[in-house]
Amino acid sequence: MCSGRVSPHFILKAFQEGVDGVLIVGCHIGDCHYGKGNYITAKRIAVMKELIKFIGISPNRLRLEWVSTSEANKLARVVTEFSQEITELGPSPLKPMKLKKI
Ligand code: FES
Repeated sequence: MCSGRVSPHFILKAFQEGVDGVLIVGCHIGDCHYGKGNYITAKRIAVMKELIKFIGISPNRLRLEWVSTSEANKLARVVTEFSQEITELGPSPLKPMKLKKI
């Protein structure tokens, strides 16, 4: 419902499960329906980028964008660009490896 609801736990769990990237999209600053959710998210994601960098994940694998419901073209562009960037980065270093059967 709000970008402020995206707990750091959700992000870390996603990377732990092997996702290649996490894109969080929130309302523009000042437009949060719940007041300060996107302010909290902006601060939180800055810290999360440092944290994932510390554990060996490129901070580019985590992105925060502000997109309103009337900006469908922007959302499409953001998703396309992020997908391309993640493809260029390759699989997450935390992606679980499949073991070969002997
Ligand atoms: S409702 Fe809070 S960021 Fe959109």
